[in-house]
Amino acid sequence: SLTFLAALVLGYLVGSIPFGVLITRAMGLGDLRSIGSGNIGATNVLRTGNKAAAFATLVLDGGKGAVAVLVARAIAGEPAALVAALGAFLGHLFPVWLGFRGGKGVATFLGILLALAWPAGIAACLTWLATAVAFRFSSLAALVAAASAPLWLALFGRPDAIWLAVALAVLVFVRHHANIRRLAAGTEPRIGKGK
Ligand code: G3P
Repeated sequence: SLTFLAALVLGYLVGSIPFGVLITRAMGLGDLRSIGSGNIGATNVLRTGNKAAAFATLVLDGGKGAVAVLVARAIAGEPAALVAALGAFLGHLFPVWLGFRGGKGVATFLGILLALAWPAGIAACLTWLATAVAFRFSSLAALVAAASAPLWLALFGRPDAIWLAVALAVLVFVRHHANIRRLAAGTEPRIGKGK
């Protein structure tokens, strides 16, 4: 329907705002895409050494996912909110402004989950945190948190949103193919080890 198309396109536009690139540039920290992994997310912003910039990127990339859900829900109801979430996630991964070369979707996924069912969002954030504390790989924490998301939605009363979480988790894994290869090879940099 036209409502779903509008939710998808408006979600995409919100999700395509590359906060990591904008914040890094505005704070004079250089071109994020030529730093570390070259990714536009908070993990790579942290490699500039600026924790505030990384935190702002995390909150804003997560926030745009949550805003897409909350606005679409208020205007057009729950099914449209799920479509807007998909749009925002695709916007972050494939932003027209960066030649469709965007991020890996972890923060945006978490923001979406928080807006869909906050206990599921908190559970996914804690899953990320526990994995990160235990192993000190941001990418591994993202993979475990993404894989756990459908379970949290099932557990916290959103079985209708499981299809979305499965789709986003598959995309998170696809986007982490280079990280997965480095994790297997033992060459993935740990959090707080620079590079
Ligand atoms: O959020 C992306 C994170 O899981 C990995 O980022 O820069 O280490 O590839 P990066």
